Amino acid sequence: MGEATPAEVRLGDVRLRNRLVTSSSLLGYGVADRGLVPYGMSPISRFVPLHRFGAVTTRTLTVQPRDGHFTNRTDWPLRGLPDLLRRYGTVLRGTDGGWINAFGWCNVGIEAYLRDYYPRTRDQNTIISIGGFSAQEFVTLVDAVNATVPAGEIAAVEFNVSCPNVEHDFESILDGVLRDAVGRSRHPVILKLAPDRDYVSHARRAAAAGVAALTAINTVRALRLDPATGQPWLDNRYGGLSGRAVKPIGLRVVSELRESGVTLPIIATGGIRSYDDCREYFWAGADAVSLGSATWLASYPGYALSPLRGLQIRALLRRIERYTPPAARFGEVRAQPVADYRS
Ligand SMILES: Cc1cc2nc3c(=O)[nH]c(=O)nc-3n(C[C@H](O)[C@H](O)[C@H](O)COP(=O)(O)O)c2cc1C
Repeated sequence: MGEATPAEVRLGDVRLRNRLVTSSSLLGYGVADRGLVPYGMSPISRFVPLHRFGAVTTRTLTVQPRDGHFTNRTDWPLRGLPDLLRRYGTVLRGTDGGWINAFGWCNVGIEAYLRDYYPRTRDQNTIISIGGFSAQEFVTLVDAVNATVPAGEIAAVEFNVSCPNVEHDFESILDGVLRDAVGRSRHPVILKLAPDRDYVSHARRAAAAGVAALTAINTVRALRLDPATGQPWLDNRYGGLSGRAVKPIGLRVVSELRESGVTLPIIATGGIRSYDDCREYFWAGADAVSLGSATWLASYPGYALSPLRGLQIRALLRRIERYTPPAARFGEVRAQPVADYRS
């Protein structure tokens, strides 16, 4: 990662270039498939230098490639575009000041990611998000990352044991995942928390298992129906709510974690778009903040403003690089600048 800059911070063992990171998914694997449209990535990302972020989190990767509730196909001819957009509308919709999605872990699989995408993102600081349906799958994923990525080359591996639109009882595997997979990783592990679950208990169990940091929050399980027909908007019926609508929920979760005495560093994500959003989360107890749907998603016509949005994100990056969070509001949990950490 080169020389430490003043903005660099450590959250426990997680080393970030600054306190502003990007959330899992909306930037895909951190690099576009070749072509005019950055397939799998927000068009806004074209106008932002991703290597400037504290870290870029990949979309969640599984052992095998998955279509999830969408598709992994990237070779759509122009005449197939209407079908593609129709499908897209069954997994992602704008709603009530936010977005509801159910991609269901649509991804190329860990092997293809490490082979085809990761080598093209070496200029970035990466958090690799992994998800599985058993402790054994998490072990397999951790082993795959260990085998390809030397220690210190990425910021962390993020465990997604909390997705609300993959129909699985994650609660039943959490302890096994923490027991079997955390200590095995040669990279720091971040646990991503669900706002719909007992996140305080999960955070405590994570700390006991050696997890380095927490990400809060994953999307909020949600439902929209067509009022005329009663049909669900999304093919999966339930989806995950994100964006501005969930910001107060994200703030509640971060604040409650701190009030409960959780001292692990927290990366906050939930409706963040502006500098004041970031400051609010820092006050609540976050150590870093993460840009998700409020920053990267727009209506189709809204994407025409991508260059402008890119400028806004660059300005936000500059401000966060210079920002020092308020002195420890919740005890000894603040991340230290790297310079202090070493001295
Ligand atoms: C379209 C979409 C896809 C997402 N996919 C993932 C995913 O693959 N893995 C994951 O951990 N979180 C995923 N998330 C959740 C985000 O990383 C984030 O936790 C959540 O959206 C809350 O932050 P936000 O309101 O800033 O978007 C996804 C969110 C959206 C909107």
